Amino acid sequence: MSKQNVIVMGLGYVGCVSAAGLAELGHNVYGVDRDPSKVASVEQARSPFFEAGLDDLIAKNVKAGRLQAGALTAERLAEADVVLLCIGTPSQANGNIDLSHMHRACGEMAALLAPRAKPLAVTIRSTVFPGSCEAILDTYFARHPEVSIVSNPEFLREGTAIKDFLEPSLLVVGGSTDAAAVAVADLYAGLPVAASVVTLRTAETIKYACNAFHAVKIGFANEIGSLASSLGADPAQVMATLCLDKKLNISTAYLKPGFAFGGSCLPKDLRALTYRASRLDLKLPLLDSVLGANEEHLRRGIRQALELPSPRIGIFGLAFKEGTDDLRESPVIALIEHLIGKGREVHVFDPHIQLDEIYGANLSFVVSALPHIGKLLVKSLDRLVEFSGALVIAQRPDAASRERLIASGLPLLDLTRIA
Ligand SMILES: NC(=O)c1ccc[n+]([C@@H]2O[C@H](COP(=O)([O-])OP(=O)(O)OC[C@H]3O[C@@H](n4cnc5c(N)ncnc54)[C@H](O)[C@@H]3O)[C@@H](O)[C@H]2O)c1
Repeated sequence: MSKQNVIVMGLGYVGCVSAAGLAELGHNVYGVDRDPSKVASVEQARSPFFEAGLDDLIAKNVKAGRLQAGALTAERLAEADVVLLCIGTPSQANGNIDLSHMHRACGEMAALLAPRAKPLAVTIRSTVFPGSCEAILDTYFARHPEVSIVSNPEFLREGTAIKDFLEPSLLVVGGSTDAAAVAVADLYAGLPVAASVVTLRTAETIKYACNAFHAVKIGFANEIGSLASSLGADPAQVMATLCLDKKLNISTAYLKPGFAFGGSCLPKDLRALTYRASRLDLKLPLLDSVLGANEEHLRRGIRQALELPSPRIGIFGLAFKEGTDDLRESPVIALIEHLIGKGREVHVFDPHIQLDEIYGANLSFVVSALPHIGKLLVKSLDRLVEFSGALVIAQRPDAASRERLIASGLPLLDLTRIA
């Protein structure tokens, strides 16, 4: 790790913790805030607010000469390698993000920025909507080719912020140049975390995805807990036991963006759960919304398939997922119905389904949904490709099938991967 000169703009929760933490890692840090009392507090080696351990960390690093605070000057800026913007980004009344403080801070910085030889990574630590970093670079630094913009979102939690800084759950960096992203990742080289270096917009989006995920997790646990309690089950035990499953529950399973879900269990059991909750006068808006969200996702896939530039559409996959011949509530059936309804000619290939081999509930389900299924199913991938003017992947293919589908050169819509 090389020692860098860092200016931290904004000495609020995120800024103070980042400033003290980076100083602790050995960097030369200079804090700036438009609130003079926060600057004075750091200059006097005190935290401007309570956060466990922050007073001591600031005092230690001010004493060691690695942490200072004051006004932003052209001289400080000229020496800096990184400016870390930790400015507040509150909500507007309509829910949109208010970037006015961020823009003002960037304007103030740009006004003091002289032509320079050494690179400067203007780094947005605040939570900003995807696309904001590019807009900031264009608006304030277009005439400074040596300035790059970096998104480096913060994931700390107030109350455990110092521990979260020193033992990060995630380190995300995206830059307008690779060199700038690497330089910012290098700031944290002493910490026990591997940097995830991604594109600017991906970095900005990851922060929102994380917070949305946390909110959904809390909402889910609370709704399941309330339902469990109404049903005479033990809410804490239900969720604690759910969390013991590290294969399907607390894992990457079901967290890849792809096609809508279906099958014989998820839709049926969600319907039963939300129906029974309504009988108990228990409102579960999060769980209630899941099937609707899934249907909307299916409609998006249908709209994309209707945009394919051919009326002859070949579909890979008919079962609700790969590795099974179970057709119950397969979203592909709704996809086929819509395509045929809109005048498309459709053929389908599924490696595990031939009509003469399916029977029972499976057969009656598919025949009632698609009476002409026998005419649609083809027996090989080659036949599917020969027929088609465009292809839809509706179920994850094995590597050889995917290669064959791509090698066809036909327009291809892959619903199993959101591009
Ligand atoms: N607080 C958290 O737990 C947390 C965690 C992760 C991410 N974030 C995100 O980090 C960002 C900062 O959050 P925070 O809680 O530290 O905000 P905060 O309000 O505590 O601090 C923001 C600071 O920026 C200063 N400021 C505003 N305009 C300025 C300017 N032109 N020049 C210098 N300083 C200026 C303010 O005076 C204030 O001290 C937000 O985008 C937030 O969403 C917050």
